[in-house]
Amino acid sequence: MLQRSVSLCVVLGAGLDSFAQRHPGKTTVFEVDQRGTQVWKRERRQALGHPLPTLVPVDFESGQSWPAELESAGFEPAQPAVFASTCVSRYLSKATTAETLRAIAGLAEGTTFAMTFLLPQDLLGPTDRPGPRTSRDGAKAAGTPFVSFYRPEEMQAMARDAGFTDVRHVSGTALAERYSAGRADGLWPSTGEDFLIARE
Ligand SMILES: C[S@@+](CC[C@H](N)C(=O)[O-])C[C@H]1O[C@@H](n2cnc3c(N)ncnc32)[C@H](O)[C@@H]1O
Repeated sequence: MLQRSVSLCVVLGAGLDSFAQRHPGKTTVFEVDQRGTQVWKRERRQALGHPLPTLVPVDFESGQSWPAELESAGFEPAQPAVFASTCVSRYLSKATTAETLRAIAGLAEGTTFAMTFLLPQDLLGPTDRPGPRTSRDGAKAAGTPFVSFYRPEEMQAMARDAGFTDVRHVSGTALAERYSAGRADGLWPSTGEDFLIARE
């Protein structure tokens, strides 16, 4: 595989992601998220003495252009970057995620997008169903329901339609096997969320 050096990272729907704290100085990190989440996180980071990445407040569903806001915050679109978005597409309409895919596919060559998506219930094995059901019920009760589920082939087709040429699906099961096989404590994550890795 071609190894590329990329020093720009954009976390879409960053939440409590701590990549910026764990890699200070090595990478320029932009975090895009809802304003309220960022206000709280900024206060906590400052209280704990952690460095602040560039925070870009955006509601993805508001019609506001996150690429425009990102650029205004100093993101250089001519440079390749890694975009990551985990546990976010579940809250967004499929039209919004398609728009995000198109926006990233149109950026500099060498840009990579890694995002997760929830699988529909019928693709889950019986032992994997209780965990996702509990989180789905909890999200609904909290007023932030999961609204989008994707079959892997649907997600891959969306990425190709958006303009990505190198599109890979990494299943949660494969990740569990890679990272949890052989653990002494037998810990095994429940699956139900897969990764899309897309490059131009
Ligand atoms: C479950 S958290 C995931 C956080 C982090 N990416 C992770 O994997 O731990 C979901 C994040 O998506 C963000 N989010 C949900 N809907 C959003 C929207 N419409 N616009 C911007 N961010 C949104 C939330 O603010 C939250 O930070």
